[in-house]
Amino acid sequence: MSKKLWGGRFQAETNQLVDDFGASIGFDQLMAEEDLMGSLAHVKMLGHTGILKQDEVEQITTGLKSLQDELKEGKLQFSTANEDIHMNLEALLTERIGPVAGKLHTARSRNDQVATDFHLYVKRRLPQILAAIKELQATLLKLAEKNVKTVMPGYTHLQHAQPISLAQSFLAYFNMLQRDYERFEFNQKHTDLLPLGAAALAGTTFPIDREYTAQELEFDAVYPNSLDAVSDRDFALEFLSNCSILMMHLSRFCEELSLWVSQEFNFVELSDAYTTGSSIMPQKKNPDMVELIRGKTGRVYGHLIGLLTTMKGLPLAYNKDLQEDKEGVFDTVKTILPTLKIFTGMLQTMKINKEQMYASTENDYSNATELADYLASKGVPFREAHGIVGQLVFKGIQEHRNLQEMSLAELQAASPLIENDVYHELQPEVAVERRNSLGGTGFKSIQQQIEQAQQTLAQE
Ligand code: ARG
Repeated sequence: MSKKLWGGRFQAETNQLVDDFGASIGFDQLMAEEDLMGSLAHVKMLGHTGILKQDEVEQITTGLKSLQDELKEGKLQFSTANEDIHMNLEALLTERIGPVAGKLHTARSRNDQVATDFHLYVKRRLPQILAAIKELQATLLKLAEKNVKTVMPGYTHLQHAQPISLAQSFLAYFNMLQRDYERFEFNQKHTDLLPLGAAALAGTTFPIDREYTAQELEFDAVYPNSLDAVSDRDFALEFLSNCSILMMHLSRFCEELSLWVSQEFNFVELSDAYTTGSSIMPQKKNPDMVELIRGKTGRVYGHLIGLLTTMKGLPLAYNKDLQEDKEGVFDTVKTILPTLKIFTGMLQTMKINKEQMYASTENDYSNATELADYLASKGVPFREAHGIVGQLVFKGIQEHRNLQEMSLAELQAASPLIENDVYHELQPEVAVERRNSLGGTGFKSIQQQIEQAQQTLAQE
């Protein structure tokens, strides 16, 4: 008989390559805490239902708790020979308390055990991610509050389009992150389902009490179907998908920041604490974190596509392919938490060059829409007004002057409806201030958005 925990029906030992290739202990030891939590709840339930005797429950519980202590102290040694975290911990428990350890696996399979550990792992990280998103949102809101009147160019096609308030831009990201927050909150609903008790795939003949275990582990509910319980990884896919969307948002912001710190824009300066130097060019201050967060976005997408692909051909119920579900999620957690923290710190310490932002709205034609609107409000059909202003812009480009530098006589030659008050409206900050349609960049509208954002943050 093979020495394996499941070796009864095997005559020969497994090939070493198979052991190495099949082992997951190298990464699933990250769920050791969750595995012990699950086992403690399971054995308590076995006692509660009378499936195990009280003294057996006590021996097993004491053994598991001592493993918990040793884990905290970093004293547990795992081995590839024991394949995964579940069998490693069972082997260690057997070393500590003897054959009674074997009773822990009553009415349980590694299939519902691993699914439970994985649910617990994600369930325990979601609040950390939610808190980190909120911190970043609070930072964005503060920046918005401080920059209502900071005027900058707004872009479409990366071309100066219309001047906006910098706060409008910060609030745009605040809103994206709010949707991320809500997606992660919803993710909790599908993560908060307990698979334990589904056993290998079909349930068990033992009179277990799944609701009891769920309460012990603070799960909202149990999976209603055993086949689904052991083979569902939707909660992990939702997690990876939510992380991908969140990273996409941050990556877009990174793209803007990398432009804004360039010499050509010079809109912001990142703190020394969040930038790096060059080994050859002494003058360099590189926005490495901005680039790395943008870069790591691809890695997170990869994990989502990887798991989707792993899942797509799987017949019910458990298949060993499912062992591939974990590393991408672990790596995503390892990526997303520092990303959120670094992003927050980077924004909190960033210096904003307000003058430079404003100056770049004065040397362009981003007030052209103002002039067209001015004419339209005097009764000129907008399409016609657009044409008149277009011709003035053309003239300006030829003569290297912008609209506000043209004399009243020149403007009136284009349309006699233009009067002296036009110069007021052509100022970038006036153009911004007046855009108070709901959700617009006008100062009043931004104030409303800020109040709404404050309420949103206070609610959760
Ligand atoms: N290490 C395995 C995994 O991560 C645990 C479940 C193994 N179950 C089995 N029937 N081989 O999926």
